[in-house]
Amino acid sequence: MQRAIINDLKLVISEIKKEAKVLEGKTILISGGAGFIGSYIVSLIYLLNKNLLKNKCKVISLDNYLTGAKKNFIIDIKDKDFKFLHHDVRLPLNINEKIDFIIHAAGLASPFYYKKYPLETIESAIFGAKNLLEIARLYKVKGFLFFSSSEIYGDPDPNNVPTPETYAGHVSSIGPRACYDESKRLTETLCITYHQIYGVPIKIVRPFNVYGPGMRHTDYRVIPTFIYYGLRGRNLPVHDKGVQTRTFCYITDALAAIFKVLISGKAGEVYNIGNDNPEVSMYELASIISNLLENNVKPRRKSYPSSYPAGEPQRRCPDLTKIKNELGYMPKVDLETGLNKTLQWFKREYNF
Ligand SMILES: NC(=O)c1ccc[n+]([C@@H]2O[C@H](COP(=O)([O-])OP(=O)(O)OC[C@H]3O[C@@H](n4cnc5c(N)ncnc54)[C@H](O)[C@@H]3O)[C@@H](O)[C@H]2O)c1
Repeated sequence: MQRAIINDLKLVISEIKKEAKVLEGKTILISGGAGFIGSYIVSLIYLLNKNLLKNKCKVISLDNYLTGAKKNFIIDIKDKDFKFLHHDVRLPLNINEKIDFIIHAAGLASPFYYKKYPLETIESAIFGAKNLLEIARLYKVKGFLFFSSSEIYGDPDPNNVPTPETYAGHVSSIGPRACYDESKRLTETLCITYHQIYGVPIKIVRPFNVYGPGMRHTDYRVIPTFIYYGLRGRNLPVHDKGVQTRTFCYITDALAAIFKVLISGKAGEVYNIGNDNPEVSMYELASIISNLLENNVKPRRKSYPSSYPAGEPQRRCPDLTKIKNELGYMPKVDLETGLNKTLQWFKREYNF
């Protein structure tokens, strides 16, 4: 099954060849390198070194393993050019080697976890960024990428769906999701401020629901939850009426977007990343997954569990005009294909 993920990553490499060349001989510092997206970024660079780059790109990955796994689920990397440090990014860090790029991906991405760890969520975003921005300043990095979120738009008014980067958002500063939404918002402000005052070439991505193989069932985001329930022969728990909508972006499309923004995005700019099609309701998503499972499980509406933060946005769909026009990004993997790949990974990983 790892073979399937590696083949996926090779397709990404063919799409980001131009950007990847810039990484020749460079060093990347990444926070959250043991998380879902972080593990893919680290593995992709490992494969770039094996397949494309003459001068290897080095990686220093930081993670406190609060939600990330200690062992990379794609490739068990044992390579002198890859360091995996157990470090909490909320604390300052001394780095004694030249850093060329920084990616701040550490955070509590799943609503279940940011409800459980609200202070860690706020501090990991803001203090983590502050510590890394200081390193960026010191080494005059070529690029600093911050993982913000589509959640910074809050519950957008329908006139702003699909949502462009220029939409200012509809967010409560004291609501049940504020620890996540507002800390991402303030961290965006912090990044822009470092750009304006110190000239740090920051770039910001706002991902819209990235998914794929490697998400664990204990992640509690919607796709791993539906798949895991279904594989155990249980009906798929759709919150409330299930009319709330999302768009979902398969991990390989997201990776192409991430590297395009990191290398070729304009400094001081924000980019939506995701897939703009289809915008599906949660009931529809559950129906698609139950069809793929072929075991007679069905979507079942239920009230929100107490572990889930209230105030769920009703619609979320990106306007991708900016990244498509400026960076030539185009999502390629349709929803059923991506879900099926994720389902096959779950079957293998959890012995179904
Ligand atoms: N996956 C998505 O759909 C999505 C959508 C919007 C935004 N994002 C953002 O992208 C980033 C990566 O998302 P993901 O899906 O890989 O999340 P993830 O939860 O799988 O990974 C986050 C990683 O950060 C680590 N971490 C948390 N706090 C830390 C700290 N203080 N110090 C060091 N490490 C810490 C966790 O242990 C984990 O390994 C997150 O910042 C998330 O908010 C993701």
